[in-house]
Amino acid sequence: MVAFNVAHAQNAADVAKPAAHAAAPLINGYQPVWWKEAVVYQIYPRSFQDSNGDGIGDLNGITKHLDYLQKLGVDVIWLSPHYDSPNADNGYDIRDYRKVMKEFGTMADFDRMLAAIKARHMRLIIDLVVNHSSDEHHWFAESRSSKDNPYRDYYFWRDGRPNPDDPSHPLPPNNYPSYFSGPAWQYDAATQQFYLHLFAVKQPDLNWDNPKVRQDVFSLMRFWLDKGVDGFRMDVIPLISKQPGLPDLTAEQLKDPSRPWANGPHRDEYLQQMNREVLSKYDVMTVGEALGITLDEEPKIVNSERNELNMVFNFDAIRLNRGAGDTEHPWTLPQLKAIYDNHARVLGKQDWDTVFLSNHDNPRLVSNFGDDSTLEFRVRSAKLLETMLLTLRGTPFVYQGDELGMTNYPFERVDQFDDIAVKNAYRELVVTGKVTEAQFIAVVRRIGRDNARTPMQWTAAPNAGFTTPSAKPWLAVNPNCTTINAAEEEANPNSVYHYTLRAIALHHAHQAFVYGDYRDLDPTNTQMYAYTRSLAVPGKPAERFLVVLNFGEKPVEYTLPDGMKAGKLLLANVPGTVEAGTSTLHLGAWEARAYTY
Ligand code: GLC
Ligand code: CA
Repeated sequence: MVAFNVAHAQNAADVAKPAAHAAAPLINGYQPVWWKEAVVYQIYPRSFQDSNGDGIGDLNGITKHLDYLQKLGVDVIWLSPHYDSPNADNGYDIRDYRKVMKEFGTMADFDRMLAAIKARHMRLIIDLVVNHSSDEHHWFAESRSSKDNPYRDYYFWRDGRPNPDDPSHPLPPNNYPSYFSGPAWQYDAATQQFYLHLFAVKQPDLNWDNPKVRQDVFSLMRFWLDKGVDGFRMDVIPLISKQPGLPDLTAEQLKDPSRPWANGPHRDEYLQQMNREVLSKYDVMTVGEALGITLDEEPKIVNSERNELNMVFNFDAIRLNRGAGDTEHPWTLPQLKAIYDNHARVLGKQDWDTVFLSNHDNPRLVSNFGDDSTLEFRVRSAKLLETMLLTLRGTPFVYQGDELGMTNYPFERVDQFDDIAVKNAYRELVVTGKVTEAQFIAVVRRIGRDNARTPMQWTAAPNAGFTTPSAKPWLAVNPNCTTINAAEEEANPNSVYHYTLRAIALHHAHQAFVYGDYRDLDPTNTQMYAYTRSLAVPGKPAERFLVVLNFGEKPVEYTLPDGMKAGKLLLANVPGTVEAGTSTLHLGAWEARAYTY
């Protein structure tokens, strides 16, 4: 029998307690703090760098490339899950929260990586996946073993509903669908009950209403914080408080189950407890994946006076081109601008925002929001998107490979995918004859998650320098690695990489890009995105910046509103640009510039 581990040793935190930020004067009404000023880079470890030729990226591979990240200007690394896992969902199904996934290395490798990150004055946040565990976690092994096991109530177990057609096969307890196809309930013959899994069958949901679960989670958080990690990205964190009694979803709710799931009655209470008992004792940054949370609800989680999380990933922008059933649907520039405008209006000085347009769950940035159809457009639009990411309001998150302008993979067959979401959807849709194979592939090749998960392209060599030339990478390397790779990008001063480096440097050089006001100059314009970031701090010269982005291939002549003039040119994605000091600008396909004004 495993003892519930609620006690925790006196820890480093008591020493490293944050010097209260209260002393620092507000900047434009905002409390200044390092995570507001940071540029974050997300690493998907499985695909970053393989150091031992087994075709799987690992921690030593990350350590090897820290100079690359430091040179780029990265302040914080967000590491997707590195914990022991049977990998039903690539590490988002954790078997042991205090162990490193064996494919990724050892705890000694982790410690070495962390020390090397700190030695370069960078920080590390790790993924906290605690809405669910793996079904191979010992908590679940205990839980499923009998109805009176002390761990039974760590998960959601319910009797099935009578099945009139087949009494020996009860129906699931309610009508919840899972995110990865099929019902969110799995029958377990051992105790003849169902358990809840909002994601895969191998990802049973933890019961946060059980105080012991909360204490066990807090304890594992302290374990990593005491090692010196600088915070967490919290996976689907709003889902931790379930609806009491788990009633059926209504027809209306079934259109978007994330909404009721994310708004359980104890969500804020549990996050506040986590903050009080754990987070507040360390100088950390937290970002919650705000699945199911609308913008107007966001301050409940991020308002600093409420003591929950620092910021969340709101999906408004990244899902702009998604329709029902996760298909693609057209979007317009005014819609995108309206999102950022709403964010600036709704989130006040006590709240903080994130800016991100890609991650490991979405297609590649340039393929999704830019134009990867020609070399010229790919390079320009990738740079344009990096410009936007690094000059909008909020902490920017760069996803690995986007700084090279990496693209979607040319998927042609379902067997080229690894992602459980794609495989399950294939079974549910194609195998049952609901859609044809060709229709299915046409959609998932555009929006499938594996597009972002193909290995990093370091060189033009076979396997792109991700692993040894003779190894078989866990997911195929994009054949365009012969032209899109870090070695080429680092050698070419006009590359996406060097541009991103300059855009990060610009972000760091001026507090206006962090704490400044945001104003959209022309919200209805369907091709030009023009906005300002401005900051007036008493005793300092005002900082005023203008960003102009031509979101398309059509050249535009654009006259700035209100007699405004573009001043000094600070950043331009087309080499040789000189236009400055004028109120009428001429922008070619996908041109992006930043000026003073
Ligand atoms: C989050 C992760 C995603 C994962 C899911 C279940 O959305 O980003 O990759 O599949 O949660 O943990
Ligand atoms: Ca490896």
